[in-house]
Amino acid sequence: MALLSVNQLKKSFGKVDVLKGISFDVEQGEVISIIGSSGSGKTTLFRCLNFLERADEGNIVLDGKMIFDGLSHKTYSAKEMREKQLNFGLVFQNFNLFPQYTALENVTLAMKLLAKDGLKSFDGDINTVASSYLSRVGLGDKLSFYPCQLSGGQQQRVAIARALALNPKILFFDEPTSALDPLLTNEVLSTLKSLAKENMTMIIVTHEMKFAKDVSTKVIYMDGGYIVESGTPEQIFENPKQPQTRSFLSSFIETEQK
Ligand SMILES: Nc1ncnc2c1ncn2[C@@H]1O[C@H](COP(=O)(O)OP(=O)(O)O)[C@@H](O)[C@H]1O
Ligand SMILES: [Mg+2]
Repeated sequence: MALLSVNQLKKSFGKVDVLKGISFDVEQGEVISIIGSSGSGKTTLFRCLNFLERADEGNIVLDGKMIFDGLSHKTYSAKEMREKQLNFGLVFQNFNLFPQYTALENVTLAMKLLAKDGLKSFDGDINTVASSYLSRVGLGDKLSFYPCQLSGGQQQRVAIARALALNPKILFFDEPTSALDPLLTNEVLSTLKSLAKENMTMIIVTHEMKFAKDVSTKVIYMDGGYIVESGTPEQIFENPKQPQTRSFLSSFIETEQK
Protein backbone atom coordinates (compact mmCIF):
# COMPACT_ATOMS: atom_id res chain seq x y z
CA MET A 1 0.00 0.00 0.00
CA ALA A 2 1.28 3.43 -0.92
CA LEU A 3 2.26 5.79 1.90
CA LEU A 4 0.37 8.63 0.20
CA SER A 5 -2.31 8.31 -2.39
CA VAL A 6 -3.72 11.39 -4.10
CA ASN A 7 -6.88 10.78 -6.07
CA GLN A 8 -8.55 13.09 -8.57
CA LEU A 9 -7.75 16.23 -6.64
CA LYS A 10 -9.42 19.35 -8.04
CA LYS A 11 -9.19 22.98 -7.03
CA SER A 12 -10.62 26.15 -8.53
CA PHE A 13 -10.25 29.78 -7.55
CA GLY A 14 -13.51 31.42 -8.62
CA LYS A 15 -13.95 30.49 -12.25
CA VAL A 16 -10.32 29.48 -12.73
CA ASP A 17 -9.78 25.72 -12.61
CA VAL A 18 -6.24 25.32 -11.32
CA LEU A 19 -6.09 21.59 -10.50
CA LYS A 20 -8.19 19.50 -12.85
CA GLY A 21 -7.89 16.01 -11.39
CA ILE A 22 -4.48 15.16 -9.98
CA SER A 23 -3.74 11.55 -9.00
CA PHE A 24 -0.47 9.95 -7.93
CA ASP A 25 0.94 7.59 -5.32
CA VAL A 26 4.02 7.96 -3.16
CA GLU A 27 5.73 4.95 -1.60
CA GLN A 28 7.74 5.10 1.61
CA GLY A 29 11.27 6.33 0.84
CA GLU A 30 10.42 7.75 -2.58
CA VAL A 31 11.69 11.10 -3.81
CA ILE A 32 9.17 12.66 -6.17
CA SER A 33 10.11 15.67 -8.26
CA ILE A 34 7.30 17.81 -9.62
CA ILE A 35 8.32 19.86 -12.64
CA GLY A 36 6.36 22.16 -14.92
CA SER A 37 6.23 25.73 -16.09
CA SER A 38 5.10 28.61 -13.95
CA GLY A 39 1.33 28.69 -13.49
CA SER A 40 0.86 24.96 -14.04
CA GLY A 41 -0.56 24.47 -10.53
CA LYS A 42 2.44 23.04 -8.64
CA THR A 43 2.20 25.38 -5.65
CA THR A 44 -1.58 24.96 -5.49
CA LEU A 45 -1.11 21.19 -5.37
CA PHE A 46 1.52 21.60 -2.64
CA ARG A 47 -0.86 23.82 -0.65
CA CYS A 48 -3.85 21.48 -1.06
CA LEU A 49 -1.81 18.45 0.05
CA ASN A 50 -0.74 20.37 3.14
CA PHE A 51 -4.14 21.81 4.05
CA LEU A 52 -3.00 25.37 3.49
CA GLU A 53 -5.75 25.37 0.88
CA ARG A 54 -8.83 23.15 0.81
CA ALA A 55 -9.24 21.14 -2.37
CA ASP A 56 -12.74 21.07 -3.91
CA GLU A 57 -12.87 17.44 -4.99
CA GLY A 58 -10.92 14.23 -4.74
CA ASN A 59 -9.29 12.59 -1.77
CA ILE A 60 -5.96 12.16 -0.03
CA VAL A 61 -5.10 8.90 1.73
CA LEU A 62 -2.10 8.72 4.05
CA ASP A 63 -1.01 5.41 5.55
CA GLY A 64 -4.38 3.91 4.63
CA LYS A 65 -6.34 6.67 6.35
CA MET A 66 -8.39 9.19 4.39
CA ILE A 67 -7.12 12.57 5.58
CA PHE A 68 -9.06 14.57 3.03
CA ASP A 69 -12.36 13.57 1.48
CA GLY A 70 -13.81 15.97 -1.07
CA LEU A 71 -17.21 14.30 -0.74
CA SER A 72 -17.46 15.24 2.90
CA HIS A 73 -18.27 18.84 3.67
CA LYS A 74 -17.22 18.53 7.27
CA THR A 75 -15.35 21.50 8.66
CA TYR A 76 -12.26 20.59 10.63
CA SER A 77 -11.43 22.09 14.00
CA ALA A 78 -8.15 23.99 14.38
CA LYS A 79 -6.73 21.02 16.32
CA GLU A 80 -7.78 18.53 13.62
CA MET A 81 -6.16 20.74 10.98
CA ARG A 82 -2.92 20.94 12.92
CA GLU A 83 -2.86 17.17 13.39
CA LYS A 84 -3.31 16.68 9.65
CA GLN A 85 -0.66 19.24 8.81
CA LEU A 86 1.80 17.64 11.22
CA ASN A 87 2.04 14.56 9.04
CA PHE A 88 4.06 16.66 6.66
CA GLY A 89 7.11 18.92 6.91
CA LEU A 90 7.21 21.99 4.72
CA VAL A 91 10.12 23.90 3.26
CA PHE A 92 9.37 27.02 1.22
CA GLN A 93 11.24 29.02 -1.37
CA ASN A 94 11.94 31.92 0.98
CA PHE A 95 12.97 29.89 4.05
CA ASN A 96 10.35 31.60 6.29
CA LEU A 97 12.64 31.76 9.33
CA PHE A 98 11.89 34.07 12.25
CA PRO A 99 14.53 36.83 12.01
CA GLN A 100 14.46 37.59 15.74
CA TYR A 101 15.35 34.01 16.74
CA THR A 102 18.62 32.11 16.52
CA ALA A 103 19.01 29.03 14.33
CA LEU A 104 18.43 26.82 17.37
CA GLU A 105 15.37 28.80 18.49
CA ASN A 106 13.92 28.64 14.99
CA VAL A 107 14.06 24.85 15.26
CA THR A 108 12.84 24.56 18.86
CA LEU A 109 9.96 27.04 18.68
CA ALA A 110 7.41 24.73 17.03
CA MET A 111 8.76 21.72 18.96
CA LYS A 112 8.10 23.46 22.27
CA LEU A 113 4.62 24.64 21.30
CA LEU A 114 3.63 21.19 20.06
CA ALA A 115 5.06 19.47 23.13
CA LYS A 116 3.15 21.90 25.35
CA ASP A 117 -0.11 21.20 23.50
CA GLY A 118 0.52 17.46 23.67
CA LEU A 119 0.58 17.15 19.87
CA LYS A 120 4.16 15.78 19.68
CA SER A 121 6.63 14.27 22.06
CA PHE A 122 10.37 14.19 21.60
CA ASP A 123 13.01 11.71 22.53
CA GLY A 124 15.01 13.70 25.05
CA ASP A 125 15.65 17.35 25.76
CA ILE A 126 14.27 19.59 22.99
CA ASN A 127 17.39 21.73 22.70
CA THR A 128 19.55 18.62 22.36
CA VAL A 129 17.24 17.06 19.77
CA ALA A 130 17.13 20.34 17.80
CA SER A 131 20.93 20.69 17.92
CA SER A 132 21.32 17.19 16.52
CA TYR A 133 19.09 18.07 13.55
CA LEU A 134 21.09 21.23 12.92
CA SER A 135 24.29 19.15 13.02
CA ARG A 136 22.74 16.73 10.57
CA VAL A 137 22.34 19.55 8.01
CA GLY A 138 25.90 20.73 8.70
CA LEU A 139 25.08 23.64 11.00
CA GLY A 140 26.20 22.27 14.37
CA ASP A 141 28.51 25.27 14.79
CA LYS A 142 25.85 27.88 13.97
CA LEU A 143 23.28 27.22 16.71
CA SER A 144 23.35 30.74 18.14
CA PHE A 145 23.54 32.57 14.81
CA TYR A 146 20.62 34.74 13.70
CA PRO A 147 19.21 34.32 10.17
CA CYS A 148 20.83 37.61 9.06
CA GLN A 149 24.23 36.14 10.00
CA LEU A 150 23.68 33.09 7.80
CA SER A 151 23.91 32.66 4.03
CA GLY A 152 20.75 31.85 2.08
CA GLY A 153 21.85 28.23 1.81
CA GLN A 154 22.45 28.02 5.55
CA GLN A 155 19.07 29.62 6.24
CA GLN A 156 17.39 27.08 4.02
CA ARG A 157 19.20 24.28 5.86
CA VAL A 158 17.88 25.67 9.18
CA ALA A 159 14.40 25.50 7.61
CA ILE A 160 15.07 21.88 6.62
CA ALA A 161 16.27 21.02 10.16
CA ARG A 162 13.16 22.69 11.56
CA ALA A 163 10.92 20.56 9.35
CA LEU A 164 12.87 17.35 10.09
CA ALA A 165 12.77 17.92 13.84
CA LEU A 166 9.00 17.44 13.84
CA ASN A 167 9.54 13.95 12.46
CA PRO A 168 7.18 14.24 9.47
CA LYS A 169 6.08 11.26 7.38
CA ILE A 170 6.80 13.24 4.23
CA LEU A 171 8.91 16.33 3.61
CA PHE A 172 7.57 18.77 1.02
CA PHE A 173 9.69 21.38 -0.71
CA ASP A 174 8.36 24.13 -2.97
CA GLU A 175 11.23 25.36 -5.13
CA PRO A 176 13.67 25.20 -2.20
CA THR A 177 16.59 26.62 -4.16
CA SER A 178 15.03 29.17 -6.48
CA ALA A 179 16.01 32.09 -4.22
CA LEU A 180 19.63 30.91 -4.12
CA ASP A 181 22.63 31.44 -6.38
CA PRO A 182 24.19 28.30 -7.95
CA LEU A 183 26.80 27.69 -5.27
CA LEU A 184 24.29 27.88 -2.42
CA THR A 185 21.83 25.84 -4.48
CA ASN A 186 24.32 22.98 -4.55
CA GLU A 187 24.80 23.12 -0.82
CA VAL A 188 21.04 22.73 -0.27
CA LEU A 189 20.70 20.06 -2.96
CA SER A 190 23.44 18.00 -1.34
CA THR A 191 21.54 18.18 1.95
CA LEU A 192 18.48 16.87 0.10
CA LYS A 193 20.57 14.12 -1.47
CA SER A 194 21.76 12.94 1.91
CA LEU A 195 18.17 12.87 3.20
CA ALA A 196 17.21 10.80 0.15
CA LYS A 197 20.00 8.34 1.03
CA GLU A 198 18.51 8.04 4.50
CA ASN A 199 15.20 7.06 2.89
CA MET A 200 13.32 10.22 3.81
CA THR A 201 10.15 10.40 1.72
CA MET A 202 10.18 13.71 -0.14
CA ILE A 203 8.08 15.61 -2.66
CA ILE A 204 10.02 18.41 -4.30
CA VAL A 205 8.73 21.06 -6.67
CA THR A 206 11.87 22.03 -8.54
CA HIS A 207 13.39 23.60 -11.62
CA GLU A 208 16.69 21.81 -10.99
CA MET A 209 16.48 19.24 -13.76
CA LYS A 210 19.85 17.67 -13.07
CA PHE A 211 18.94 17.19 -9.43
CA ALA A 212 15.54 15.76 -10.41
CA LYS A 213 17.30 13.38 -12.76
CA ASP A 214 19.92 12.27 -10.22
CA VAL A 215 17.86 11.96 -7.06
CA SER A 216 14.21 11.26 -7.85
CA THR A 217 12.56 7.89 -7.94
CA LYS A 218 9.69 9.44 -9.89
CA VAL A 219 9.23 12.64 -11.89
CA ILE A 220 5.82 14.23 -12.40
CA TYR A 221 5.40 16.75 -15.19
CA MET A 222 2.43 19.12 -14.72
CA ASP A 223 0.89 21.49 -17.18
CA GLY A 224 -2.41 23.40 -17.08
CA GLY A 225 -3.59 21.72 -13.89
CA TYR A 226 -3.03 18.16 -15.14
CA ILE A 227 -0.29 15.60 -14.72
CA VAL A 228 0.72 15.32 -18.35
CA GLU A 229 3.25 12.57 -17.78
CA SER A 230 4.99 10.83 -14.91
CA GLY A 231 7.62 8.14 -14.70
CA THR A 232 11.16 7.33 -13.74
CA PRO A 233 13.76 10.04 -14.43
CA GLU A 234 14.96 7.94 -17.39
CA GLN A 235 11.45 7.79 -18.86
CA ILE A 236 10.79 11.51 -18.45
CA PHE A 237 14.18 12.96 -19.33
CA GLU A 238 15.40 10.46 -21.91
CA ASN A 239 12.23 9.16 -23.45
CA PRO A 240 9.33 11.56 -22.86
CA LYS A 241 6.18 10.31 -24.54
CA GLN A 242 4.08 13.47 -24.64
CA PRO A 243 4.85 16.36 -27.03
CA GLN A 244 4.20 18.85 -24.17
CA THR A 245 6.82 17.18 -21.99
CA ARG A 246 9.31 17.23 -24.84
CA SER A 247 8.78 20.89 -25.57
CA PHE A 248 8.98 21.83 -21.87
CA LEU A 249 12.24 19.94 -21.45
CA SER A 250 13.78 21.33 -24.62
CA SER A 251 12.92 24.91 -23.62
CA PHE A 252 14.62 24.13 -20.35
CA ILE A 253 17.79 22.89 -21.95
CA GLU A 254 17.91 26.06 -24.06
CA THR A 255 17.62 28.34 -21.01
CA GLU A 256 20.15 26.29 -19.06
CA GLN A 257 22.67 26.67 -21.84
CA LYS A 258 22.23 30.45 -22.09
N1 LIG B 1 -5.20 32.18 -4.23
C1 LIG B 1 -5.37 32.23 -5.56
N2 LIG B 1 -6.39 32.91 -6.11
C2 LIG B 1 -6.58 32.93 -7.44
N3 LIG B 1 -5.80 32.33 -8.34
C3 LIG B 1 -4.75 31.63 -7.86
C4 LIG B 1 -4.47 31.54 -6.46
N4 LIG B 1 -3.37 30.77 -6.29
C5 LIG B 1 -2.98 30.41 -7.52
N5 LIG B 1 -3.81 30.92 -8.47
C6 LIG B 1 -3.69 30.70 -9.92
O1 LIG B 1 -3.50 29.32 -10.14
C7 LIG B 1 -2.62 29.09 -11.22
C8 LIG B 1 -1.53 28.15 -10.79
O2 LIG B 1 -0.70 28.78 -9.82
P1 LIG B 1 0.41 28.02 -9.00
O3 LIG B 1 -0.21 26.85 -8.32
O4 LIG B 1 1.08 29.02 -8.14
O5 LIG B 1 1.38 27.52 -10.14
P2 LIG B 1 2.94 27.14 -10.12
O6 LIG B 1 3.35 26.93 -8.70
O7 LIG B 1 3.02 25.91 -10.96
O8 LIG B 1 3.64 28.30 -10.74
C9 LIG B 1 -2.13 30.45 -11.67
O9 LIG B 1 -2.87 30.82 -12.79
C10 LIG B 1 -2.43 31.33 -10.48
O10 LIG B 1 -2.67 32.65 -10.89
MG1 LIG C 1 4.89 27.74 -7.55
